[in-house]
Amino acid sequence: MAEIPEHPSDVTGSGPLMKVNIGGRAYELVEHTYDVVIVGAGGAGLRAVVGCTGAGLKTACLTKVFPTRSHTVAAQGGIAASLGNMGPDDWRWHMYDTVKGSDWLGDQDAIELLVREAPRAVIELEHWGTPFSRTEDGRIYQRAFGGMTTDFGKGPPARRTCAAADRTGHAMLHAMYGQALRAGAEFFIEYFALDLIMDGGICRGVMALEMETGRIHRFRAHAVILATGGYNRVYFSCTSAHICTGDGTAMALRAGLPAQDMEFVQFHPTGIYGAGILITEGVRGEGGYLTNSEGERFMERYAPHAKDLASRDVVSRAMMIEIREGRGVGPNRDHIHLHLDHLGRDIIAERLPGIAESARIFAGVDVTREPIPVLPTAHYNMGGIPTNHKGEVIAPRDGDPDAVAPGLFACGEAACASVHGANRLGSNSLTDLVVFGRAAAQRAAETIRAGSPHKVLPRDAGFAAIERLDATLHAAGSTPTARLREAMQKTMQEHCSVFRDGDTLQQGHEKLLDVWRGLDDLAIADRSRIWNADLIEALELQNLLLNAAVTIHSALERTESRGAHAREDYPERDDENWMKHTLAHADEARRATRISYRPVHTRTLSGELPYIEPQKRVY
Ligand code: FUM
Repeated sequence: MAEIPEHPSDVTGSGPLMKVNIGGRAYELVEHTYDVVIVGAGGAGLRAVVGCTGAGLKTACLTKVFPTRSHTVAAQGGIAASLGNMGPDDWRWHMYDTVKGSDWLGDQDAIELLVREAPRAVIELEHWGTPFSRTEDGRIYQRAFGGMTTDFGKGPPARRTCAAADRTGHAMLHAMYGQALRAGAEFFIEYFALDLIMDGGICRGVMALEMETGRIHRFRAHAVILATGGYNRVYFSCTSAHICTGDGTAMALRAGLPAQDMEFVQFHPTGIYGAGILITEGVRGEGGYLTNSEGERFMERYAPHAKDLASRDVVSRAMMIEIREGRGVGPNRDHIHLHLDHLGRDIIAERLPGIAESARIFAGVDVTREPIPVLPTAHYNMGGIPTNHKGEVIAPRDGDPDAVAPGLFACGEAACASVHGANRLGSNSLTDLVVFGRAAAQRAAETIRAGSPHKVLPRDAGFAAIERLDATLHAAGSTPTARLREAMQKTMQEHCSVFRDGDTLQQGHEKLLDVWRGLDDLAIADRSRIWNADLIEALELQNLLLNAAVTIHSALERTESRGAHAREDYPERDDENWMKHTLAHADEARRATRISYRPVHTRTLSGELPYIEPQKRVY
C-alpha cells in the first residue's frame, strides 16, 4: 500500500484536500500535522492548550462546541484551594479530606499533586482575569463545601472553595479561552472527534468530522490530549449538558484501552426536581439546609457533625432513604426541600444570583420565600480514562499495572487520575481540570521535540473511523436514535443509580446489552447528507452506549459499597478484596465488555505527608 509522504517539520496547519473512497462513496479528507492535538475546550482542554502553546509546541484544539459553551461553563459553586483567605487552612487538610472523600480509592500521589498545586492554580486564574468574588479586604472569597474540613477532619468546616458568585466555571472558562487565543493555539470549532489513530499501541493522532461541511480531517500529532468531559447523558436525569457523551472514553475503549472505575457515578444531592438543573452545593455552603415532609433537618441524623455539608454520596443516600421511608415532600412524596429563604435577599443577590434565576425558571420558585424542590441527580463521573499524575494514559501490559500508552494523555472529567476515587468532593473538579490540564501539557513538552518529523503511516491510517461513520450514516434499519437513547437512559436510571443491588444490576446489564445490540437496527433520519444532526446524535449514542455498558458491568462486579457505589446486598466497604481500581474493556463489534483490576497506589508523591491509612468514613 502506498504511504503518505513524510511531512517536513515545517508543515503545519492544513494540507491539500483529497478524496477517499469508502463504502463506494467519496469523502473529502484534509490532512493536518501538529505537535499536539487537544480534544475538548473545557477547563482541562484549555489549560492544556495554554501549557502546550506556551512550551513552543504547535498545538491544535478540536472541539465539538464553541469553547465557551463547553460544560465547564456550568460549574457553579467554585474551585477548591487551601488559600486560607477566610480562616486557617493547609494543603494537608485538603489532602486528608480528599482521600477520605474518595473512600480511600483515590491514588494518593495524584491527590497530593492536586491539593499542593491548587493554590498556585487559583492565583494563576486570578492573574488571567477570572473575576472571583472578593472579601471586604479584597482577597478571593471562599465558601464552605461538603466534606471540606480543617485539622484532618477534627476541626470546623474549611472555607476552601474559591467562588465567582455561583458562576465560577463561566468566569474561569472565559478567562482561559482568552489566554488560549493569546497564546496562539489553533482552534477547530464544531469538529467532532471520531477516533484515535493508533499504531502498535502508540497514539499518532486523531480523526475528526467537520460538522458544518461533512469533511473528514486527519490530525497527525506526537501527542493527543483527551479532555472531552464526562458521560452523564447515559442517565435520564442529569445536571450535565447534552454534549456530555463520553466521546474521549469511547475513543480510548475503541482503541483497545481500558476505562477505569466507571461504576463510581456521582449523584449531586440538589438537582431541581423534574428538570435536573444543578443547584449548587454552595447554597448549603452559605447556610442553606434540607428538610423532609415533617420539616425535619434530617441530615443531623445521618451526619451529626457535618450535617448538610457531609460528602455528596452521604447526602444523596440520606435523601433517597427519606423518600423511600415516606418522608419525601410534594404530592407524590418523591423529593426533598432545600431552604435558603433565611439567608436574606442581599446574600442571595450577591452570592447566589444564578441559582435564584434557575429556581424561578425551572421550578417556579422565589427562593427568598420558598424552598426549592430537589432530588439527587447524576452529576459527575469519577471514572474515566486511567492516567498517572502526569496525565499519561495508563495501559497496563507485561505485568506492569502502571505502563503508559505513548503519545496519549487525558485530563479533566474524561480522565481518572485517580484523585476522586469512589466519590469526588464538590469543587475539587475545577481544581482537577486546571492542575491536570497543566500537568499533561508539561509532560507533553518534556517528551516532544517541537517540529520533529512524524512517522510514516499507512495511507489508510485512521480510515476505520470513516468506515464507521459511513456505516452509521447509511444505517437504514427501523429504530430511531432517540428511541435507543431513551431506552439506555431509562435503563441506567432504573438499574445503576444511587442505590444498587446484584439483581437490579444484572437485569440492567442484560437490558443494556439489548439496547446496545439495537444499534444494528438503527435508522438515520436523513441519509442523503453528511452534515446531519441525526448522524452526530447517532455517533454520540455509540459513545454513550460504550460508556454505559462498561459502567453497569463494572458496578455489577464490585461486590462492596464504597463512596458513590452503594450496594444494598454488600453494604460494607471491603478493603481486603476491593482496594483496587476496576479496568473495563469493550469490544464494540461484539457488544461485549470485560473487567480486570489494577492496584490503588499506596504512596504519596513527596512523602512529606505519609500515606493516609484507610479509616471508617463518618461525617
Ligand atoms: O454544587 C456545585 O456547585 C457543584 C460543584 C462541583 O461539582 O464541583
